[in-house]
Amino acid sequence: MEFIIGSGIAAVALYTAAKWNPAVSERKKIEHVFRNIGYRVKDHEPTLVRRNKKESSMEYVYSVPFGLIDDPKLQPTLEKTLSKPVEIKFRGKLIIKVYNKSLSKLIHYDEQVTNDWIVPIGYTLNEQIRHDFDSIPHMTIAGMTRQGKTVLLKLILTQLILNKPDDVEFYIIDLKGGLEFGPLEKLKQIKKVASNVREAYQVLQEVQKNIKRDMQLFRSNDYSNVLDTSIKKRTFIIVDEGAQLSPGKHHTKDEKQMFNYCQEVLSEVCRVAGALGYRNIFCTQYPTADTLPRQIKQNSDAKISFRLPTGIASRVAIDEQGAEELGNVGRAIYRTHTKHVLQVPFISDDVMWSRLGRYERDASVEKEDQASRDNTIEFG
Ligand SMILES: Nc1ncnc2c1ncn2[C@@H]1O[C@H](COP(=O)(O)OP(=O)(O)OP(=O)(O)O)[C@@H](O)[C@H]1O
Ligand SMILES: [Mg+2]
Repeated sequence: MEFIIGSGIAAVALYTAAKWNPAVSERKKIEHVFRNIGYRVKDHEPTLVRRNKKESSMEYVYSVPFGLIDDPKLQPTLEKTLSKPVEIKFRGKLIIKVYNKSLSKLIHYDEQVTNDWIVPIGYTLNEQIRHDFDSIPHMTIAGMTRQGKTVLLKLILTQLILNKPDDVEFYIIDLKGGLEFGPLEKLKQIKKVASNVREAYQVLQEVQKNIKRDMQLFRSNDYSNVLDTSIKKRTFIIVDEGAQLSPGKHHTKDEKQMFNYCQEVLSEVCRVAGALGYRNIFCTQYPTADTLPRQIKQNSDAKISFRLPTGIASRVAIDEQGAEELGNVGRAIYRTHTKHVLQVPFISDDVMWSRLGRYERDASVEKEDQASRDNTIEFG
């Protein structure tokens, strides 16, 4: 009798331990998911090789039957089943990383100044992601309205000015009437802010003239890439709401020519002017073949997307689905040769001005300097 009671208690204890041990039940849920989505080859299922417990995550390493690779259904299904962030990697074995906590919903901008072309983009669950504009010169940014595109542009601009106040210059095409970037024209690093297509046309004519001048200078010095020279200057062309640069049926012939010219110069910046030190950041709410010109997309090796309405829009923006699943404002996918889901730090206009106010240009000095600056290129 005592023996029966004793083994009964032991069985209940074992059952409870199994039930409440999160690692065991998590593993079971993972293997249920394998079965539910048919992640197997005939009767052969993945088998758990080991578990690695880390501070903020649990890693499950599975050996999979020959011929099976990772499956795009795995990540979203596991994430929803476990109600935790999940990352999947496939390196001969299937690695499933289940995080204990979710990404922060709000991270305030608080970045140290460095002397390079590297800017913060955001925080993933386990690391900070930065972007180096000397490694990857051009970037596209997509996302529905009020998801954080302009805030990210301001974050990038602020960090670049803080890092390289004497070497960076910006041409900004703010096609929302200059409301966001117009006030920044006071800063000495901002060459021009265009607030409509006609102004964008003029600004881009100036940019094209400068590209021609620099091309000449590179040729006569046998330079092929700015990175191999002592030239310190970098010129950023930022377009906020690029969709406004695609002509519609209601535009006149002249207007259409102006739009096409703007798109051509931006494509030229991405195609050839990167080597001369020009960097393009092209931002749009509506990524389609018309609003995100092919040459710009193909030559922008960094692609960022905030939430988009559909998987199709996500494929246009970042070449894969996923942006339609992003939830939080400021949450984005940063895609280069790797892909990261991250939270972009928030910078308010007040913080931006508190850091950049010291670079407001003195109007009288500016006028005197303007002519000489226009036609010079600085060497280090
Ligand atoms: N990284 C962030 N973290 C937290 N909140 C943010 C972040 N970025 C933006 N927001 C909030 O969302 C608001 C809208 O952001 P933003 O103006 O950048 O959107 P947008 O994508 O440029 O929209 P639109 O396409 O309409 O111009 C901000 O005023 C701010 O309140
Ligand atoms: Mg905006």
